[in-house]
Amino acid sequence: MTTHHTRPLRLESLAFGGDYNPDQWSEDVWDEDIRLMIDAGVNLVSLPIFSWPQLEPEPGVFDWGWLDRILAKLWHAGIRIDLATATATPPSWLLRAHPEMLPMDAEGHRLEFGSRQAYCPSSPVWRENVARMTRAMAERYGDHPGVVLWHISNEYGDHTSRCWCPVSARHFRRWLKDRYGDLNGLNEAWGVNVWGQRYTSWDHIETPRRAPGPGNPTQLLDFERFSSDALLELFQLEIDVLREITPDIPVTTNFMSMFRDLDYWDFAAVEDIVTDDAYPDPADPIAHVGAALNYGLMRALKGGQPWLLLESSASGTSWRDVNVPKAPGEMRVDSLQAVAHGSDAVMFFQWRQAKYGQEKFHSSMLGHRGERSRTYRETRELGRELQQLREVHGTRVRSRIGLVVDWDSWWGSTAAESLPSQRLNWAHQARAWHRAMHLLGHPVDAVRATGPFDEYDVVLVPNLYIADSAQAAALTSFAEQGGRVVVGPFSGVVDATEKVHDGGAPGPLRDLLGIEVDEHWPHTDGVTEQVTFADAAHDNPFWGEWIDATDKTEVRGCYASGELEGLPAITRRAAGDGSAWYVSAILDDAGLVAIFRDVLAEAGLPARDSLNPDFESLTRSSADTDYTFALNHGREPLTIDVPPGARDLITGATTGASLELGRFGVAVLATPRADQAPFLTLRV
Ligand code: GLA
Repeated sequence: MTTHHTRPLRLESLAFGGDYNPDQWSEDVWDEDIRLMIDAGVNLVSLPIFSWPQLEPEPGVFDWGWLDRILAKLWHAGIRIDLATATATPPSWLLRAHPEMLPMDAEGHRLEFGSRQAYCPSSPVWRENVARMTRAMAERYGDHPGVVLWHISNEYGDHTSRCWCPVSARHFRRWLKDRYGDLNGLNEAWGVNVWGQRYTSWDHIETPRRAPGPGNPTQLLDFERFSSDALLELFQLEIDVLREITPDIPVTTNFMSMFRDLDYWDFAAVEDIVTDDAYPDPADPIAHVGAALNYGLMRALKGGQPWLLLESSASGTSWRDVNVPKAPGEMRVDSLQAVAHGSDAVMFFQWRQAKYGQEKFHSSMLGHRGERSRTYRETRELGRELQQLREVHGTRVRSRIGLVVDWDSWWGSTAAESLPSQRLNWAHQARAWHRAMHLLGHPVDAVRATGPFDEYDVVLVPNLYIADSAQAAALTSFAEQGGRVVVGPFSGVVDATEKVHDGGAPGPLRDLLGIEVDEHWPHTDGVTEQVTFADAAHDNPFWGEWIDATDKTEVRGCYASGELEGLPAITRRAAGDGSAWYVSAILDDAGLVAIFRDVLAEAGLPARDSLNPDFESLTRSSADTDYTFALNHGREPLTIDVPPGARDLITGATTGASLELGRFGVAVLATPRADQAPFLTLRV
């Protein structure tokens, strides 16, 4: 796959709007839509995402009239269009003509038509039709002056990210041939002498359907890689058509935050603009902490370039077991959090709340009560407020901390059933490490294990199960040049074919970390051991390791209970001008906070004393101005110390030495750009 030059989005201010489904309404509703959109400050809408059957009711017979008409109305109203290629879901006539296009699950059952995304990503028929539809859309609307962005498909992999059908199996074999060349290569890679799995013909290889016992881990890992690539090919196929016909219009596909099934580094590399759909659960009081890490990934995927929050909810969703609404003010702070994290847009699913279908109970900008609905009042106020924030458009987030996000390690450490413990979960581990940095007051960018690390003082590696020498070399050189690397448990265990590194973990990271892992030591459920760090005991649920530190490595924390009592748990080794830490245990928040506090001090970075997850602050900067966002994600008011003399973009006021942030309160403080971004703290 090639990385293409990034085409800019032709919007001068923050985008505001949402998914728009005019084909679910009679045309007499459209004028009211437009009037209320203008009133709310909407300047961008996404359509027609799921409308293929309405655009091509019969094979080759198109009905463009309704789309022509609504696009004209939007254009005349000054509302720009994120134009979908309408390929998110196939029409029934296509599936009934080609039933082999329906996806199959791991048990061998076909999934039926009646929801959405009922396609096998590898199906040649589907691909051919996707290319045909994309071409038709591009030829018809590529010159439309309102179209500023191509919205390809929708949330790849949301419902169908893996398919185990015979067509997928054939595609999987081709993918494996490309990767391993010949059958010997494959047999060697998959370690087939274990449990008698030697293949003597390519045709004998299947997708890893349900088998009598645990599957071959490398086969499972390759299937994860293949499945991500299969959807990436589909994406690339549309991109190629669009670049041929509309070379100046940027392309995107909307991501689903930190989504396990697709390697978003690969997807972002081929598109122009990263866009994300974010649905933090209002029932979870720290959902915003998870969102912060997701946004740290979104801005990192294209090297810090602003991204777009393309979907979010004005209030409740309709796909959770219980869909708790957002309290008054909560949608605003959620939206401004995304802006704080580098989004140049606040967009929603969807503009007008549906009257029927699967999503009629999903909140929208315009609720069932129309302009009298609370969500409309609140989104309209937000639309106005975003206009006051137009200066932040195009600015970039400043973060000193990188956190390694590596899909191979995520898949490898979770796809197999035969692991030391199923309780070590890549995502939990990454989220826990990020949460500790959030509590200490630092935003975190995602980064690849090979860097680039130039922007960072600290690189966190919560888990790197699959590690190679290039990654080890990049991390080592970062440390030697003065960086701080912190590596988490079960790292450096295997190579890319899941073979254990010679001498065991941490494999290629052994010299950098100055430790050797003798044995992984997971705990059974309900057993929580203790680890001491800086004289305090911390809970160590789920996982420990028997490690030996080599002579130059300091032992900074020890196991304090159980079979590992007295053995090293947390180590630090000086490396050039920097250092490399190893945290062999899974720790509670307090334990991670204590370790990271020391790491930050070593790196010369500030840290908060008072740990309140509700308080978040981070800075977007232009060449001459720092815009520091202060967000209260909770219901209790907070008092924070701020730089005096800052201009609050929202109120227009000039700050004194402190600022009161009410329930779900937000301030955006402009100050001249400084070497280090302002670091705001809570007044206690
Ligand atoms: C996803 C989809 C949308 C809609 C929303 C509802 O983000 O992309 O079409 O279904 O979920 O939350």
